[in-house]
Amino acid sequence: MTSTREQWMWRRFLSGVAVAVAITAAAFVVGGAQGQEPQPLSASDIADGMRLYQQKGNCQACHGWAGDGRKTDSQMPDGANLRDTKLNRSGLVMTIKCGRLNSQMPAFDKFAYTDGRCYGKTQADLKSYATRMPDPPATLQQREIDLIADFLIAKIAGKGPMDHAKCVEFWGSETDACKEFPK
Ligand code: HEC
Repeated sequence: MTSTREQWMWRRFLSGVAVAVAITAAAFVVGGAQGQEPQPLSASDIADGMRLYQQKGNCQACHGWAGDGRKTDSQMPDGANLRDTKLNRSGLVMTIKCGRLNSQMPAFDKFAYTDGRCYGKTQADLKSYATRMPDPPATLQQREIDLIADFLIAKIAGKGPMDHAKCVEFWGSETDACKEFPK
């Protein structure tokens, strides 16, 4: 026959097990979600992508610092307005890696037209296009292309025309670049 105290101990033990099971289950759900969904973008990754866009990739020479197509280098081809782009993340990544055939958008993947990874084409196929893709200012690693795509999504793609408030948010403070936009 079990005493009242034994019953109490037993109930306490069982409720302890239930809590442990619940915690483990919650950990699995959270862990599972982390495995599938992209990690939230960190501010430092976005800043890295912005730097790559401005400097190593020199995207702004053709697309403008705001991505609105107002190029910063008048000698460069007119880049698309990236603020209006309909491309999703993988479309952006693909365009940066492979450039755009028959246009002046360069391919930034060093091996873009070597092994068919870009639209199944090789260097020889490129000769048949009237407009030749220019060489990129520098080639980019996959990780760098990912960072630029993340920066574009966070700060440029689908964000509409630049205005004063967006400019201050873009640079993180009131800067000279924002003076041209009325408050
Ligand atoms: C030499 C000039 C030049 C440079 C440098 C350049 N682009 Fe472009 N880019 C273009 C042109 C021109 C187009 C338009 C191509 C076309 O006619 O479809 C374009 C198109 C694009 C598009 C497709 C937009 C859309 O909605 O279809 C993306 C995305 C893009 N560029 C991103 C970048 C990024 C990111 C960089 C830097 C890593 C970069 N570009 C560097 C000239 C350039």
